[in-house]
Amino acid sequence: MAIIELRDVSFAYKDSTVLALSHVNFSVERGEFVGVIGPTGAGKSTLCWTIVGVVPQILRGEFSGAVFVNGLAANETPVARLAQIVGLVQQDAEAQLLMTDIEKEITFPLENLCLPREEIDKRLNYVLDLVGLRENRLRHPFYLSGGQKQRVAVAAVLAMEPEILILDEATSELDPVGAEEIHDLAGSLKKQGKTIIMVEHNIDELARHADRIVVIDHGEILRDGPTREVLSDVDFLCGLGIYPPQVTQVAYHLSRQYGVQFEQFPLNVEEGEELFGKMLRA
Ligand SMILES: Nc1ncnc2c1ncn2[C@@H]1O[C@H](COP(=O)(O)OP(=O)(O)OP(=O)(O)O)[C@@H](O)[C@H]1O
Ligand SMILES: [Mg+2]
Repeated sequence: MAIIELRDVSFAYKDSTVLALSHVNFSVERGEFVGVIGPTGAGKSTLCWTIVGVVPQILRGEFSGAVFVNGLAANETPVARLAQIVGLVQQDAEAQLLMTDIEKEITFPLENLCLPREEIDKRLNYVLDLVGLRENRLRHPFYLSGGQKQRVAVAAVLAMEPEILILDEATSELDPVGAEEIHDLAGSLKKQGKTIIMVEHNIDELARHADRIVVIDHGEILRDGPTREVLSDVDFLCGLGIYPPQVTQVAYHLSRQYGVQFEQFPLNVEEGEELFGKMLRA
């Protein structure tokens, strides 16, 4: 059974006539890494909030359809209970950090769960190592780089031991190094079997890790398929203002304008080098 399942979900925020989600059918299998892309205002964050129960329990409005997360109905299971299954990291790392040091940031929610001290310490050490911040554990978040802050936010969410991690533009305010740290972390979490949903503008990075890509616009899912298949539809994506990896665009234009045949379009520089090299040698 899918770990996340949305069945014909529609949602309009209170006092809004626009459907932020419109008849969305979407499911995610355990261990999948799903990328979500779409123009601004498309409904990407609303989709994420629906999975964690914030829509419609906290952000209210007209909701219809059904959302199941690990078998629980997300629109009526307490958000705090869902947080133990699915963790959400958002764009603004700064706003997510509330405590005076990293350690407290991670342990406070665990104390609220009334976990035994040994369990809390075990989880704390595990996530600090995972995000590479053990040395900084007693520092105030203020003194961290953007990438480090975002890693603390990820660590705090992972300490809840959720099976699913949702990253909603978690790298968009970071410099390239910070963004890469988060992408690498997401990649290694995938290898550990976590289910990951990543809303991301950086398509090149997304292409590295995502098994599948979902394209949303005006609250509707327009495409949902294997990463290479979705990202190879260059005209369609560019029409939405989404730009596939440049190497993919080059191959696409070569095939359209010069009839160059590709078995598949490359998604990254390494693949491009191999494919173009093979063609030049032939
Ligand atoms: N809290 C809210 N109250 C009312 N309307 C909202 C709220 N949040 C989002 N919306 C509206 O819902 C629609 C979908 O917004 P959403 O934030 O889900 O888009 P998004 O794809 O995440 O956009 P972005 O790329 O800018 O983050 C938009 O029309 C937006 O204006
Ligand atoms: Mg958003």
